[in-house]
Amino acid sequence: MGFKKDFLWGGATAANQYEGGYDQDGKGLNAIDVLTNGAVDRPRLVTWKKEDGTTGNSPFVWGGDFNIPADATPAILSDYHYPSHHGTDFYHHYKEDIGLMAEMGFKVFRLSISWSRIFPNGDEEEPNETGLNFYKQIFEECHKYHIEPMVTLSHYDTPLALIKRYGGWSDRKLINLFEKYVVTVFKYYKGQVKYWTTFNEINAMTLAPYMGGGLTDPTPQNRAQGAHNQFVASSLAVKAAHRIDPEMKVGQMLAYSPIYPYTCDPADQVEIMKAQQETLFYSDVQVGGRYPEYRLKKYEREGIKLDDRPQDYELLAEYPADFLSFSCYSSSVLTTHANDDHAAGNLGVAGVTNPYLETNAWGWATDPDCLRLALNILWDRYHKPLWVVENGLGWADKLEDDHKIHDDYRIKYLRAAISSMSDAVKIDGVDLMGYTMWSAVDLVSNGTGEMKKRYGLVYVDCNDLGNGTMKRYKKDSFSWYQRVIVSNGADLK
Ligand code: BG6
Repeated sequence: MGFKKDFLWGGATAANQYEGGYDQDGKGLNAIDVLTNGAVDRPRLVTWKKEDGTTGNSPFVWGGDFNIPADATPAILSDYHYPSHHGTDFYHHYKEDIGLMAEMGFKVFRLSISWSRIFPNGDEEEPNETGLNFYKQIFEECHKYHIEPMVTLSHYDTPLALIKRYGGWSDRKLINLFEKYVVTVFKYYKGQVKYWTTFNEINAMTLAPYMGGGLTDPTPQNRAQGAHNQFVASSLAVKAAHRIDPEMKVGQMLAYSPIYPYTCDPADQVEIMKAQQETLFYSDVQVGGRYPEYRLKKYEREGIKLDDRPQDYELLAEYPADFLSFSCYSSSVLTTHANDDHAAGNLGVAGVTNPYLETNAWGWATDPDCLRLALNILWDRYHKPLWVVENGLGWADKLEDDHKIHDDYRIKYLRAAISSMSDAVKIDGVDLMGYTMWSAVDLVSNGTGEMKKRYGLVYVDCNDLGNGTMKRYKKDSFSWYQRVIVSNGADLK
């Protein structure tokens, strides 16, 4: 299939969706800890409190997701359910789960460190030793089975205290606070962790600025500044990693989906180009090392002025990301023509329905073949090693009476996705480092906060309200993926 001998096969997770133990052993709250569960037809809610004691909630809306009253601050309230508080309890099941990953033959396990487990408010003088020790034990467990951990430093995980105090990443103060956090973990886990990424789906600053950057006032100006601050913080992370341990590699993590024009009208092609620029701007800076002209022009037109320093640009050019990792679940379709057939997608990416593709129960188009396109587009533009760090199929899996889960639809999707990656590698010569499908084990959905929307190879007995035994059961895809890994992608049957 063309995959390298040391191809990094595995699965991915994120602390706020998987770990649980949200207030244990000194962990502070983070952005997602104040988001309730929702459903396909019901948005998640941000709950809040005012100084006079009034409480309430505001729907979380993609694009401009944070609309709580100006005089309120996000808060946990009784009578609401917050799925990040339990996740699927990796906190107490990590040995069992890593054992299951080892059984599948994982070479790599992508997880995130929760910043507020290390610095509960994001700005303490000293880190929380218990938090540091928790991840140390996880990494030790991984190495017991020769599994390489791949760590996201911030997966929708800005400490809530920094959100309340600074309004999130639009404040430059977060750059140095983040630097302190990453230097702490780089030093602590030196020799244990080689692969890192900074911000999960860094372009969430456009699509979901509260999730991506903890922004409480997501104006275009604040989003531009938030992105700039995260770019600088990412370059500082690359610089620190290389200094602390030259073996470390720090990548970008981008949400990338190919976009198709609905018609061959030239106006539709321009629409696609503009939408691509909105995403690729993030990799042009973080991987390419410089602001592209189209973005500078946009800022000029919109009157956006960055609070920047000349040395920011030196850092960006000198310390770009070592590799480009990305999530890709599906494609989307755009048109300038009237079309009311609206589609749904990751991070609220909308557009219109693709008549050639089926959708899942959440309206996301099933397009595993788009991976070849995505890989070629990114490889041609950057010529940096690529890594598919998220890809998979969300489904309402059914646990049968005999404790089996027959997820043949997931096997079908993953089979096609791996074939598509193989074409990109074998036919087109793309340099692909690895594949960490989403998700190794069932976890809470980011978009809807449900348990019902499952992606895992391992089923977890837990419902939307966090009730269940948390027992783990292997799905049919478990042994299928095991065969894929042992054959280095050759056996997809
Ligand atoms: C990605 C995120 O956007 O998509 C994950 O990095 C998320 O956190 C995944 O879970 C799938 O999205 P959803 O909304 O189906 O959970």
